[in-house]
Amino acid sequence: MNRPQHFNLLARLLHWAMAIAIVTMLFVGAGMVVSLQYRTQLLALHRPLGIAILLLAIVRLVNRLTRPTPALPSDLPAIQKFAAHASHWLLYALMLAMPVIGWAMLSAGGYPIPMFGGMHLPAIVPHSAEAYGLLRPLHGALAYLLFLTILGHLGAALFHAWVRRDEVFGQMAKGDSQ
Ligand code: HEM
Repeated sequence: MNRPQHFNLLARLLHWAMAIAIVTMLFVGAGMVVSLQYRTQLLALHRPLGIAILLLAIVRLVNRLTRPTPALPSDLPAIQKFAAHASHWLLYALMLAMPVIGWAMLSAGGYPIPMFGGMHLPAIVPHSAEAYGLLRPLHGALAYLLFLTILGHLGAALFHAWVRRDEVFGQMAKGDSQ
């Protein structure tokens, strides 16, 4: 397969838009559990933005699996190639799992799940205090894992851009209009 120089335009747009949305979600999530004053407003933003991330993550995964991607530099040590691939698939898994767990935990808790304009999502798991008791701490623990993985991803991107000075950062930062 002929591999392109850069990720395609859809992959690049989704990468940067979702980076902003996910980091926002981590801080909104942390903010709403510590703030009594802004909890209602932050939660009203957290739910629909989380569902938007879920929908965009599905589009992004389909695009990732069906379109060719640029190769990592051939001189990159095997351990770093492995770390890159493992962390990318972990990020995909967490982008999908975090919103689904948030949705499932509200369902298990028997809470309404309002979006925008009076629309509500249906419950995806039956009402169960035990399930809520598992899903609520899981949502918090995976948020820490997501935050740490993003920090590692950012560190690796800057290592490529500033230390190795190879083409990896540019593969996601620039390219043609396709
Ligand atoms: C990428 C998507 C998401 C991210 C990164 C995220 C992140 C977070 C974080 C960091 C917290 C605070 C956790 C803690 O301190 O224990 C949190 C709490 C919460 N999230 Fe999410 N979340 C996402 C999606 C969702 C979705 C889709 C829903 C619901 C539809 C949701 C509902 C909630 C609720 C209800 C809480 C805690 C409320 C409480 O018990 O105080 N989240 N989230």
